[in-house]
Amino acid sequence: MGIALPLCHLSLLLLLSISFNYVGHRNLVSADEALIQLQCHNAEVPSTCIQCVKSDPKGESAGKVGIANIIITTCLSNNAKSLKHNMTVLASTPPGKGEKAILQRCEKAFSDATDDLAKATAMLGAKDYDKTNGLVAAALAREVFCKENMLDNKVTVPDSVVYQMRVYEELSNAALRIVDRF
Ligand SMILES: *[C@@H]1O[C@H](CO)[C@@H](O)[C@H](O)[C@H]1NC(C)=O
Repeated sequence: MGIALPLCHLSLLLLLSISFNYVGHRNLVSADEALIQLQCHNAEVPSTCIQCVKSDPKGESAGKVGIANIIITTCLSNNAKSLKHNMTVLASTPPGKGEKAILQRCEKAFSDATDDLAKATAMLGAKDYDKTNGLVAAALAREVFCKENMLDNKVTVPDSVVYQMRVYEELSNAALRIVDRF
């Protein structure tokens, strides 16, 4: 945690410093589609953001805050929950004791991330956008902590889990950038 949090703040600063630039898109698509495109545009990976928002039936009619809510409450939270489940399963059938401990720490990390994201949802509802982003950043730091712990200890997990963790990072990045502009 001691290492993960400053790293996370650094990347937050980096992503905030990247310039805001959007032109076009608007004429090509419907109004709702345009809002999703616009909100997701500054994400590092807009396609992951767009796919998440569209996966929710309310996505097409959501406003700015609604879009942020879908990313945090639906996509990120579900992702954290399924990653927690994956870590539980992986920790129960490990090759070694060391690996089991690392995977259990990851399980705890995603469990804590789920709690952070529930609080972030509440803060978004209360229009406290600084606290919302603080909690999304904290939840992201937990994933970074898990990933670095696995890398440092050469613990490997199935590609599908690695992929889900990347999606989790991309969605966190999208939420942070969207909420930051409120
Ligand atoms: C990870 O969890 C999800 C949701 O429970 C599940 O669909 C997926 O198969 C799991 N992946 C692995 C590799 O266990």
